[in-house]
Formats: sequence, C-alpha cells, structure tokens
Amino acid sequence: MADARPFHWEYHPEPVAREVFRIEGGRRLDGTVPISGAKNAALKLLAAATLTGERCRFTNVPEIEDVRVMAETLRDLGVVVDHPEPNVYEVASGDVEWLFVPLEAAARMRASFMLLGPLLTRFGRVIISNPGGDRIGRRPVDLHVEAMRALGASIEYRNGYYFATSPGRLRGGEIRFPFVSVMGTENAMLAATLAEGHTIIRPAAQEPEVDDLITFLQAMGAAVERTAPDTIEVEGRKRLRGAEHRVVPDRIEAGTFIIAAAVTGGRLTLEGAPCDHLAAFVETMDRVGVGIACGTDTIDVDGSALLEGGYRACDVETAPYPGLATDLQPPTAVLLTQATGTSHVHEAIFEDRLEWLSEVGRMGARVEMIDAHHATIDGRSRLVGAEVEIGDLRAGASLILAALAAEGTTTIHGAHHVHRGYENIERKFLDIGASISRSAEGTTDTTS
Ligand code: UD1
Repeated sequence: MADARPFHWEYHPEPVAREVFRIEGGRRLDGTVPISGAKNAALKLLAAATLTGERCRFTNVPEIEDVRVMAETLRDLGVVVDHPEPNVYEVASGDVEWLFVPLEAAARMRASFMLLGPLLTRFGRVIISNPGGDRIGRRPVDLHVEAMRALGASIEYRNGYYFATSPGRLRGGEIRFPFVSVMGTENAMLAATLAEGHTIIRPAAQEPEVDDLITFLQAMGAAVERTAPDTIEVEGRKRLRGAEHRVVPDRIEAGTFIIAAAVTGGRLTLEGAPCDHLAAFVETMDRVGVGIACGTDTIDVDGSALLEGGYRACDVETAPYPGLATDLQPPTAVLLTQATGTSHVHEAIFEDRLEWLSEVGRMGARVEMIDAHHATIDGRSRLVGAEVEIGDLRAGASLILAALAAEGTTTIHGAHHVHRGYENIERKFLDIGASISRSAEGTTDTTS
C-alpha cells in the first residue's frame, strides 16, 4: 500500500500543546532527589533492540517524551514495544514490515536517526529522513552516512530522505571519523555488530552512554569491545539474541540538580547518581567553590558558599567525554552568574548552544556574547523574575535553574521542551522545596 505520509515539501508539523512553568524563586532547595535513567543511553538501547528478532527488556528507562517518540517510531515500523510498568520497556522486532523512518519522527527527535545502522545491517535496506529536514549545516549526519558507506552500504539522498541499501551483509571495515561524534560512533557500532568481518572505529566517542550500549550489545552476543580509550572494535556476528539491561543513570540530570543546590544555597543528596561519570564537572564545581561529596552511588551537594558570596568565577570549555559535557554548559553558565568575577565560556561542540544566554540576560545576568562559541559572564548578578522563552531542552532546564535562583516570579514559555528529556522535573523540584507550577499556555491553571 502506498504511504500517505508527506515528503518534506508538504510537511506541516502537528501543533504541540505549549506549556508554561511559573516559578517563584529565591527558595533554598534541600532534600533528596532520585536520578533517572539516561535519555542518551535509553534511546540508543531501544534502537539497538531492532538488531534481533528476540525480545529485549530494559529497566530504569526514563519516562520522557523522547522515549515515547522512539517507542512510537518503532511501533510504526511494525516492532512490538510493550511498556508493562513505569520505567520498563520490552521490544520485540520479529517482523519489521516497514523499513521507513518518516519525517514525522525525525522532526520530533534527532535520535530517530539511530535507526539507520541497526535496520540497515539487519534487513539490508532502510529509507530514513534527514533529521534536520533540509537544514543541512547545523547538526548534520554526514559522519553517520560515511560510516555506513565505509561498511559497504550504498546511500543516496533524495527529497530529504536517505535511501540506504546493502546487497548482502554489510562488510566490516575501518571507520575513521574526522572528529568525535557520539551518535556517529553508536550508529557505526550497531551496524558493525551484524556485518561480515572486523570493524575498527576511531576516534570513538568515550561517553558513558556509549559504554552502556556496548554492555547491552555484549549481552546480546555481539563481539564489541573498547580496545583503547578512543577505539572500538567489532567482530561481526550472524545473529544476536534478546537481552535484558538496566539503563545507566543520567549524568546530565544529576549535574542539573547539583547546580540547583548550588544556585539556591541548598543541600541536596542525589540518589543513584553517577559521580564517576561527572569528573570534569565535579572538578569545575570544586573550582567555583560548590561542595561535592561522592558516595558509591550518591552525590551530596552543599551550596552554602552561595550565601557567603563565596563562589569564584571560572573559565570553562566543553569537550567530548571525558571533558566537560556540552549538555552541562547551560546549567554551569547559570552558576557562573552567581560567582564573583568574570568567567569565560567556550562552547566547543555546537554553534547554537550559547544563544539561550540572552534569556538569562533578561533576568539580570551580565552576559556578553563574543561569537557563536564564546561568551563572558560577569558575576555576581542579582537575578530577577522575568518572562522568558525556552528554545530547546538543555536551555530549558537551565532557565528553570535561573528562575529558582531569581527573586520574584519567572514565567517560562515553551516548558514542553523540557519533558523531552527530564522525567517528572517539576515533581522532583517540588519535593525539594521549589515553588514551580506547570500549565497549558494561555491558562492560569496550576498543576501543583
Ligand atoms: C549527542 C547527544 C547530545 C550531546 C552531543 C555531544 C544524544 C541523543 N545526543 O548528540 O545530547 O550534546 O552528543 O555530547 O546522545 N557532527 C557532524 N556530522 C555528523 C555528526 C555530528 O558534523 O554526522 C558534528 C555536530 O554538529 C557537532 C559535533 O559533530 O558539532 C558533535 O556532535 P555529536 O557528538 O555527533 O552529537 P550527537 O551524537 O548528535
């Protein structure tokens, strides 16, 4: 049957239900926060489950919008995705009838492109939408495409879609990336697990979520190993089996709550938190003067230095793991507004990750944008409530942090972006003493 779904030129995204957060700032946050499973691991694990026809089971999956989008995208392909209880997903990809990942999925979530490697290697073909639509240039996927070609795939790009085919099994080969890409590494690795022969991926991303994916693939019977910090080697297998896996905790969520304690002068204990995965961030917190104590799977944060005006300015630069995560740059920038002196922020990974700083500027932060990758922050600023707009997920969480630190009420438009990646965020903030409510845009109805 012909597919009625639109190509790019006739695509009009479904209107999203816009939401606002209202936050009364200036309250100290104290207590305990449970850290959820990592979004950036869960999405790839769900994609990897299509490498086998057998059932895979995942626990500690965060209840977030991106996971729901991935589950829906898989169901559209004919994959059975069960959600038997909160935080548990089961995936069975016996019959995949429809090797087509449409623009609807790609437009909602870039990680839908993670289906390229596994579907191509298992079924020999897939048609998949370019996640940026035709906006090539910003966050391109050329490295993913080149990696598949290095394994013998033919890929053509037409009308916003990649048409990928492989006459037989993909062939193992050498994949040399010009620079580190997290999802590029993961897509290449997934494709190589069922290819014929040996694959070597260099430089391979070192993020903990990549290693979580390796652990799951090994449980499926894949011969995948990190043979050097920046090298992953794969010996292709004919088939993989079903497996069970617990998703690694979310270091980005943990970092976000560390800043929440720091900017409100509070004390928090993060439970199930991955201190080992936050070394560069914890080192930055030490330099700024935030007290952090790591337990086996807890992190205690002491933000009392804020009240004595004791945070110090600090220069930060993002880098691939084990460097400071770009996803923690926005929260860190909020902290730097509360540190005395001038801090320089160098966002080395993305060219659009500093734009949101203008919104914190509206709340009283003294921010100067130098270029797309550099800004300076002069602290300490008195932040005051304002009306601000969230443009993306990480900036969204950071505007919440700024609002918690500010005097008065902040209204944050575009709150729905935050649910893409943070489980139950307002519940977690309410439980530690924040005054935060969520409502549909245009209403005054509060959820709590
Ligand atoms: C992943 C994370 C994201 C995080 C980012 C960097 C997921 C779902 N998302 O995104 O939260 O911020 O890593 O840690 O895991 N690039 C290209 N061509 C490509 C691919 C990437 O030029 O084909 C560029 C990107 O534009 C960027 C850089 O490479 O400048 C690194 O991006 P990459 O590591 O690929 O990020 P993602 O895997 O998309």
